Amino acid sequence: MKLAFIVDPIDKLDPGHDTSVAIMEAAQILGHEVWITEAHQLTAIDGKAWANLLSVRLKPVELVEGRWQIIENWYQIDHGVFAPLEEMDAVFMRTDPPVTIPYLYATYILDLIDPTKTLVINSPRGLRTANEKMYALQFPSVIPHTLVSQDKSVIRKFVEEKQAVILKPLGGKAGEGILFLQVGDRNFNSLIEISTRWGQEPVMVQEFLPAAKEGDKRVIVLDGESIGAVNRIPTGNEFRGNMAVGGRVAPVEITDRDREICAVLAPQLKVDGLYFVGIDVIGGYLTEVNVTSPTGIREIDRLNNVSLGKEVIQWLQKFVSG
Ligand SMILES: Nc1ncnc2c1ncn2[C@@H]1O[C@H](COP(=O)(O)OP(=O)(O)O)[C@@H](O)[C@H]1O
Ligand SMILES: [Mg+2]
Repeated sequence: MKLAFIVDPIDKLDPGHDTSVAIMEAAQILGHEVWITEAHQLTAIDGKAWANLLSVRLKPVELVEGRWQIIENWYQIDHGVFAPLEEMDAVFMRTDPPVTIPYLYATYILDLIDPTKTLVINSPRGLRTANEKMYALQFPSVIPHTLVSQDKSVIRKFVEEKQAVILKPLGGKAGEGILFLQVGDRNFNSLIEISTRWGQEPVMVQEFLPAAKEGDKRVIVLDGESIGAVNRIPTGNEFRGNMAVGGRVAPVEITDRDREICAVLAPQLKVDGLYFVGIDVIGGYLTEVNVTSPTGIREIDRLNNVSLGKEVIQWLQKFVSG
């Protein structure tokens, strides 16, 4: 297969952590062509999506004493072409959030790809449909009590009811802007004003789940099925579990409850073309559905001695040939 990956600048990727690199490596190992490009290097010409594509060779990371060892000069660019993306069998859209206006423009260009020729993972329409925080609201049976509002009095009433909540900006990632708020906080008004930009922007307000101290579980979901999970446990004085803010990763089982959550999501994920997502589960509740560039594969592979990247590529082989 010929595979294109739309990623952030490759020299900024961390081969020991980034799922995009793990999938690219797996593709190469399984004998496929790996091409990369960036969202701003897409062009629409006469109703077709084109891109500046670079052919890349990777030196796969190696597991040494439980850590990924990165080989020097881990990637090598062979040559570049300007070509229609429909020459590819699949395109992985893996640009990191935030979802900005230029990001959305890139998805409109990806809309021009004929799905009978090239699979886009995740579907550009799905990427626009699924705000990573708000998408979960479609599955009320498996999420904690959650409100989205920019109205201070509505938020105040909810916090009084719940006593303690988590405030989340709707476009954030990696713990950015996540706040803990409880009744009686002396910064109560100010925190709401700042997070709603003085009532101009809605924010997510979610019942605080005390189970968060036992971990925020990332479950990798491929075509509606959970294929791996890793726990992220807050450390030190930090209440957030995200790896980016020092959350400690630990092996964890995929439970019946996790599978139940996936089963609730799966039909809608299919409709929305969200083939590869990372869901966050705290205390058995779905808190987030990451669709843009979910991560976690490197950690799961390292802790469980598996290769989820290979599973993704093998699934893709079947999908593309079937
Ligand atoms: N309802 C909640 N109760 C307790 N802690 C939460 C809750 N929601 C999120 N958190 C904490 O905040 C962190 C980030 O939340 P999340 O919704 O996954 O946003 P993101 O990862 O995009 O920043 C989680 O790792 C978790 O530690
Ligand atoms: Mg998260």
